[in-house]
Amino acid sequence: MTRKILVFDTTLRDGEQVPGAKLNLYEKVEIAQQLKKLGVDIIEAGFPASSQGDFDAVRAVAERVGNTSDIMITALARAVQYDIDRVYEAVKYAQNPMIHMVLGTSDIHVEKKFSKSKDQILQIGVDAVKYARTLCPQVQYSTEDASRSDFDYLWTTIEAVMKAGATMINVPDTVGYAEPEEWGHLIYRLNDRMKNVNPDVILSVHCHNDLGMATANTLAAVKNGADKVEVTINGIGERAGNAALEEVVMALKTRNQIYEATTGINTREIINTSRLVSSFMGLDVQVNKAITGDNAFAHSSGIHQDGLLKSRDAYEIVHPEDVGLEDMELVLTARSGRHAVKNALEKLGIAPQSTDDFEAIFEKFLQLADAKKEVYNHDLYVIVESYYEATDSATNESTTAFSDAFYDLQDLQVISNSTFPSASIRLTRGADVIPASAVGTGPVDALYSAIASVTKIDAKLVEYNISSVSRGKEALGKVKITLEYNGETYMSKAADTDILRASALAYINAINSIIVETLQPTIHV
Ligand code: KIV
Ligand code: ZN
Repeated sequence: MTRKILVFDTTLRDGEQVPGAKLNLYEKVEIAQQLKKLGVDIIEAGFPASSQGDFDAVRAVAERVGNTSDIMITALARAVQYDIDRVYEAVKYAQNPMIHMVLGTSDIHVEKKFSKSKDQILQIGVDAVKYARTLCPQVQYSTEDASRSDFDYLWTTIEAVMKAGATMINVPDTVGYAEPEEWGHLIYRLNDRMKNVNPDVILSVHCHNDLGMATANTLAAVKNGADKVEVTINGIGERAGNAALEEVVMALKTRNQIYEATTGINTREIINTSRLVSSFMGLDVQVNKAITGDNAFAHSSGIHQDGLLKSRDAYEIVHPEDVGLEDMELVLTARSGRHAVKNALEKLGIAPQSTDDFEAIFEKFLQLADAKKEVYNHDLYVIVESYYEATDSATNESTTAFSDAFYDLQDLQVISNSTFPSASIRLTRGADVIPASAVGTGPVDALYSAIASVTKIDAKLVEYNISSVSRGKEALGKVKITLEYNGETYMSKAADTDILRASALAYINAINSIIVETLQPTIHV
C-alpha cells in the first residue's frame, strides 16, 4: 500500500543559515508562496528569536501564505520559553501553526554544549513541550544530533516528550554522520516503539549531507517507517546542506515500487522553485546537481544523443517536463553525433536531400562546434545556407540570406564608472555593420540597452549571470529574456575570455533564438 509522506521544507530556516543567503521579508514571502504552489505540507519559515527582522518575516509568511488549512507554518525555537513565545507569536496568524523546538540528545551536546546531566536535559525538554502545548496544538520536538546519541537515552527522551504532548518527533542527523543502512535500522526501531506508545505521533527525519548521503539516508528512513521528511530546495543548508527536496521527491516517484510511498508535491513546479531560491539567495546550483542542475537533462555525448533520439528511455529515467523543463535539451557540441544534428535540422524544417549533402553540412557543423563549443539553431541556419551558396544548388527562393537575419558582435567598448556607465557596440547583420551607444545603470545594463536599440526586439531581461568556467580563463555569460508581447522565455549562454563580451554574446544568442522562431523553415538542400 502506498503511504503519503509529509514534506517539511526548511529552505527558509536551515537553508537560510547558509552564509550570505539571508532573505528580506518580501523575498521570504515570495519563496513561501512558491513552496505552497509546489505542494509542500509544512514550511519552516525561520528562527524568530534570532532577530526582529526574522520574526517579522515569519509572521508575514504565516499571515500571507498560511491563510489556508492545507499548509502548516512553523518556525524554530530552542527549548526555552522566550524562543517558544517568539515562535508562537509569529506563527499564530497561520490557520495551521506549529511550534518546532530542538534540544540535543548526544553526549557531546548534553555534556559539552550544555554542561548538564542527561536527566536535567530530559526535564528541560519535557517542560518545554508541556509549555508549548498550552499555546499550540501542534508541537514538533527535534532530538538534535540523534545519529550520535546513545539509543536508550534517545528513546527515553522521545517517549517522555511524546507523553508530554509532542505531536511530531523529528530525528536529525545533524552532522551528516549517518550511513543509510544503520540509519534505516535506527528509524525502524524508533518507529516500532513510537507506534506502540501513540500511533498518531508523526516520525520525521532531517538529514545533513556532510558525507554526501543526506538523500540516501532520508530515503532509507522512509523505507523504514518515517512519515515525514525535512528537506530544502537544491539541498541548501548548514555546511554541505540538507537532503534536497527534488531528489527525495523524484526518487520516491521514480522508484515507487521500492519505496511504496508518495508525496503531494507538484513536481512540475520543481525547476521554477529551484531557480527562484537560487536567484533570491544568490546560490548557484551545481551544474551536475541531480534534477535541478543545468546539465541534469542535457545529453551532449554523441552516443547518448543518438540513443535518446531512438528511444527516450535509453538514457532518461526522469522526463524533464515532469519537473517543469519544457523539453530535453540536446546541447549540440563537437561530441554530438549525426543523428542529433539531423534531428536538430529536422526540427528547423531543414531536410538535406542526399547523404552527401548531409555529410557536407555535418562536416561544417563539426568545424563550427570546435570553434564555438555550443552550436545554436541560428548557427545551423548559417551552416546550411553557406553550404547552399557554395554549391549553388538553390531550389527555393525563400532560402536566400538566412544568415542576414542574425546578429553578431563585431566590437564593443564599455565605460564603467559610478556616474555615467556607457557602452558603444558594433553589431553585424549580414553585410550591415550597425553601431549603437547607450548609457545604463551599470556597464552590463548599458551594453544590453545598446544591443536592444539595434535589435528592436521588445524583451525583458529576467535573469543574468556571469561565472568562470575554466579556472578563471573563460567567463560564461547566461541570460534569460522574456518577450513582452507573449511572455515566451529564451535562455542563452556564451563563453569568452572577456566578461563583457561573454555577456553581450549571451544576450545576442538569445535574440537570435527569437529570430530563428520567426523564420519560415523551408530550406531544402
Ligand atoms: O540539523 C539539525 O539538527 C537541525 C534541527 C534544528 C532540526 O537543523
Ligand atoms: Zn539542520
